[in-house]
Amino acid sequence: QGRIHDHNPAADHPERPVGFGRLQRKEDPRFIRGQGNYLDDIVLPGMLHGAILRAPVAHARIVSIDTSEALARPGVRAVITGKDLEPLNLAWIPTLSYDVQSVLVTDKVRFQGQEVAFVIADDRYAARDALESIYVEYDILPPVIDARKALDADAPLVRDDLEGRTDNHIVDWECGDAGATDAAFAKADVVVKQEIVYPRVHPAPMETCGAIADFNAVTGDLTLYETSQAPHAHRTVIAMVAGLPEHKIHVISPDIGGGFGNKVGIYPGYVLAIVGSIVSGKPVKWMEDRSENLMSTSFARDYIMQGEIAATKDGRLLGLRADVLADHGAFNGTAQPTKYPAGFFNLFPGSYTWEGVYGKVTSVYTNKAPGGVAYACSFRVTEAAYFVERMIDRLAIELDMDPAELRLKNFIAPEQFPYDNKAGFEYDSGQYEKTMRHAMGLIGYDELRQEQADKRARGELMGIGISFFTEGVGAGPRKHMDILGLGMNDGAELRIHPTGKAVVRISVQSQGQAHETTFAQIVAEEIGIPPEDIEVVHGITDQTPFGLGTYGSRSTPVSGGAVALVTRKVRDKARLIAAAMLETRPEDLEWEKGRWFVKGDPTAGKTIQEIALAAHGTMELPEGVDGNLDAEVTYDPPNLTYPYGAYFCVTDIDKGTGKVTVRRFLAVDDCGTRINPMVIEGQVHGGLADGVGMALMEIIEFDEDGNCLGGSFMDYLIPTSMEVPDWETGFTVTESPHHPIGAKGIGESATVGSPAAIVNSVIDALRPLGVTAIDMPCTPARVWEAMQGNARPP
Ligand code: CDP
Repeated sequence: QGRIHDHNPAADHPERPVGFGRLQRKEDPRFIRGQGNYLDDIVLPGMLHGAILRAPVAHARIVSIDTSEALARPGVRAVITGKDLEPLNLAWIPTLSYDVQSVLVTDKVRFQGQEVAFVIADDRYAARDALESIYVEYDILPPVIDARKALDADAPLVRDDLEGRTDNHIVDWECGDAGATDAAFAKADVVVKQEIVYPRVHPAPMETCGAIADFNAVTGDLTLYETSQAPHAHRTVIAMVAGLPEHKIHVISPDIGGGFGNKVGIYPGYVLAIVGSIVSGKPVKWMEDRSENLMSTSFARDYIMQGEIAATKDGRLLGLRADVLADHGAFNGTAQPTKYPAGFFNLFPGSYTWEGVYGKVTSVYTNKAPGGVAYACSFRVTEAAYFVERMIDRLAIELDMDPAELRLKNFIAPEQFPYDNKAGFEYDSGQYEKTMRHAMGLIGYDELRQEQADKRARGELMGIGISFFTEGVGAGPRKHMDILGLGMNDGAELRIHPTGKAVVRISVQSQGQAHETTFAQIVAEEIGIPPEDIEVVHGITDQTPFGLGTYGSRSTPVSGGAVALVTRKVRDKARLIAAAMLETRPEDLEWEKGRWFVKGDPTAGKTIQEIALAAHGTMELPEGVDGNLDAEVTYDPPNLTYPYGAYFCVTDIDKGTGKVTVRRFLAVDDCGTRINPMVIEGQVHGGLADGVGMALMEIIEFDEDGNCLGGSFMDYLIPTSMEVPDWETGFTVTESPHHPIGAKGIGESATVGSPAAIVNSVIDALRPLGVTAIDMPCTPARVWEAMQGNARPP
């Protein structure tokens, strides 16, 4: 159990800190002046432009492709098809889940929007116009769209390219103890079943995905600018696919306009830009448009979950079962550590003690875009948190018990940590009851219930929804976690220049999370150099240590740990030099932020800046110190960190239209030590907006022919400032006992925690009408249908 305190006084100090606290973001001056350097800002001499022809149908055999007219158009340099890629062994690439994905179709189309041909032209318009002149004859096949029908005996076979395959089944996975769960259910007074669907949604970052490839045929160097959340992992995969040595591949991930999991995978467009540059001898740029992004790059979720919960009649939780059908689309492109084909769904027992839990996930292929990425979450923890928090509320309805009281009754107690959640994960620390009560106080829970009673008496629909979630973030210990065989640990390198200015090089890549600020703050906290004197280098493989990248809130838990440890290594080295300078023994020195001084004589000391200059100077250096103050480490985290939160949502529903208004939302988060509370609040605000989107508006649906119905922002609705309330936030601090600075991740907590609070609130509002369940998104039409007694309209 880490240290527990109410708040972190240093971190919440309003003044400019040397270390943790509310430091203005170092990256903002360039962003707010429009001076960011995004992929679309990069223009290379002689750069050509690529455009992708995409399949208009979901399932069809290719009969012929005629590119001659397109090739003859002005400005067109080349048209590439799958047949051209086959001899290069580039028609298919590996996915992050040991499947393969087609780069350009060679045999048949497997989802609408799939890549069919690639045009390279002098400018973007010429490339796009030429797509109209490519003639493809399709032999249309019946598609399998509904995951529930994917395993039927007569279901069309999606992956006939895979040898010996006769059905659409991908993998079965289970966790927990079926026997103990059966025994728990046998004891129960109350058992409730509920189907819960987490629909297909899309990360939809503001900046879509793209790449510029620049291959130098003389030197054999490939420079690849791309929108990547994981530049080092991408470089290794490209080295494997293209057969180029890694030191000849220079991946540069510039400023990224949001990733949210969408920029973890390697898309055909990236590969095509590389092939295009090799073929044309010029830099080639490919940048997708909004519809391409929504229709063909990675979706998230798409879990159909059957839940069963067992309890005593006075509300003691006994057992929980989850049986999930996962729709992975046409290629298994889900992103998670190898041993976890259902991501971190292991977290489905949530924040409670159970006698038995058992979870099972079956994944299937369908004729839909591939993906299953962790959209702003640690793999499948979002689905898990949503599942358990909906089930708890469903039980509360059955028991006619207050949902806050039911949770309080069953929380894991602080002294039970480290806690084995019975599904394979060990939670590091938490003080759930305290956080819950703090949140109930902040929102005024009792008053809200009174207000609701008054409104119900007047026939008004007001809901109060709760979600108390536990995440597991920071993948991961390398012995348990890898992606494509690459262990999930990160490096950090710290260099202190003679003048005491510092450069820290990290493995992770910011997509807007303020790493340039907060990683400088970790160095500052540990060594006392002001953050403005510390440059954070990231996103450039040639200049940064190998590591697995930024997703699943892993930056702080993994790279943050690496940065703290590398700084401590420098501090230890500085101690040896300071001792030599002060003509004393290292063990006689004491550290205070920014300097070593002689114990008992604070006036005899050397600042880190003085020590840095001496390290590079002419003095005789002590044993074990060479002529600098630099260090590097690789950090292998011993466990995930387990942030958690208590979220409360108040909704009002218009009886005439079914429109849901989120009137209040309180998020009380515990992410351990808080590095920069301002950044944390920003992360939480963003994630809460994600939650409102998923709960109320966002869905990627398909018609029965496999036409994507969410291919533009006219159809795929994301929330604006009009749909979200003024967020209310609070926090508690429970340090992670194993993290070097006690920090847990926060980047995705709000996306993970908020949807259940909102949906629970909608159900709570509709309770007087007898509603006990509704699925996302709670659009006015769906809510109105529920009000008529039809919870899931056809
Ligand atoms: O991996 P990602 O950056 O998306 O997530 P994270 O590690 O949770 O960090 C998101 C941002 O919040 C970073 O700038 C962190 O340094 C900051 N943060 C913080 O200030 N305090 C924490 N305890 C956790 C994160």
